Amino acid sequence: MRTRPLKVALLGCGVVGSEVARIMTTHADDLAARVGAPVELAGIAVRRPGRVREGVPAELITTDAMALVKRGDIDVAIEVIGGIEPARSLITTAFERGASVVSANKALLAEDGASLHAAAEQYGADLYYEAAVAGAIPLVRPLRESLAGDKVNRVLGIVNGTTNFILDRMDSSGAGYSEALDEATALGYAEADPTADVEGFDAAAKAAILAGIAFHTRVTIEDVYREGITEVTAADIASASRMGCTVKLLAICERAADGQSVTARVHPAMIPLSHPLASVHEAYNAVFIEADAAGQLMFYGPGAGGAPTASAVLGDLVAICRNKVSESTGPGESAYTRLPVSHMGEVVTRYHISLDVADKPGVLAQVATVFAEHQVSIDTVRQQGKDQYSGAAGASVEGGGGRREGGEASLVVVTHRAPDAALSATVEALRRLDTVRDVASIMRVEGE
Ligand code: HSE
Repeated sequence: MRTRPLKVALLGCGVVGSEVARIMTTHADDLAARVGAPVELAGIAVRRPGRVREGVPAELITTDAMALVKRGDIDVAIEVIGGIEPARSLITTAFERGASVVSANKALLAEDGASLHAAAEQYGADLYYEAAVAGAIPLVRPLRESLAGDKVNRVLGIVNGTTNFILDRMDSSGAGYSEALDEATALGYAEADPTADVEGFDAAAKAAILAGIAFHTRVTIEDVYREGITEVTAADIASASRMGCTVKLLAICERAADGQSVTARVHPAMIPLSHPLASVHEAYNAVFIEADAAGQLMFYGPGAGGAPTASAVLGDLVAICRNKVSESTGPGESAYTRLPVSHMGEVVTRYHISLDVADKPGVLAQVATVFAEHQVSIDTVRQQGKDQYSGAAGASVEGGGGRREGGEASLVVVTHRAPDAALSATVEALRRLDTVRDVASIMRVEGE
């Protein structure tokens, strides 16, 4: 074992950073044995030095993160601050000063991963970021290393625990979105401002990172189509259930069938209960990968939280330290395919559409014509009557003896696969029909 310790600067000491510091201190002997050299925490940069951090060596705390990375003797900087600045400047400076970097910063990697990789390469350093996607679940390393000899065609995942918790509660209890969000907030799953999670920004950043490494190309968060879960209603969930489906916020990254482009998107979708992702409950994450030779793989586990995320950070730390000991570096950016990222309109998917229509002769034919005019093929249609006086859902057409014609009916149409642009144009045309009183819900159907 080499005796000179590898020195580590910890940038940020919140929920994840304090777990990293604690484990580095309590497991120092094991880490040294695994690396082949002692791994020493040299400094911890924080914004609020007065805060109590149990198990974190107080003598290492500093408020000057830039001075810490500029010291000149730092071998590895661990960035768990988050956000774009000062994280980007600190990481770049760390590379310039000869350090390698572990980062958990999905926002920065999804916005500017290419520049960070370029800086790492320029200075002969490593950039590892397992913790940036799905917390403790090994995904970045399997994609960058284990599957490096295969051809990945599709990545389909639940990569945001907060939204999975909310949708799971809506599904299991029949709660509405606001009620389920309140419960997530009370239990600490949702932040006071839940926008990044519920509007899909967090999942979109993760989708960009996964698509880039899966398809060996550059994908930024700007390339990712995004819809959150705020419009998902209890009626959508009930409708999914009637179809033998559940609703999940999915991150979907796909290589086009001709291999000439890729797509990345985040939106709620109905998936069949038989799909492995349907059984991912509470705040868990899971990612389903399809590759030419490997076939279908599923990765499952806790996608957030201090200790699970620290586990991913420490795995990267050990890998980088081993590289330092053997005077090598790990894999850099692999973006040689330079594939264009197609727009959402070109994505081929299926829609589940609920319409409130006038219940009179010719309406079904009128609706069907709109689908036909847009080259969208209908898979199934279900009609359920609404009581003409109360507007409440009534008996189905087949069993609705006694319900009078002339009221309103609820029509549920599920399409075959078609380009998203054709599907959304169909919905717009349906909205313009006098006989369509309301397009009550639209949701994509995936995972079949
Ligand atoms: N807020 C994220 C989630 C965890 O709910 O999964 C951090 O990415």
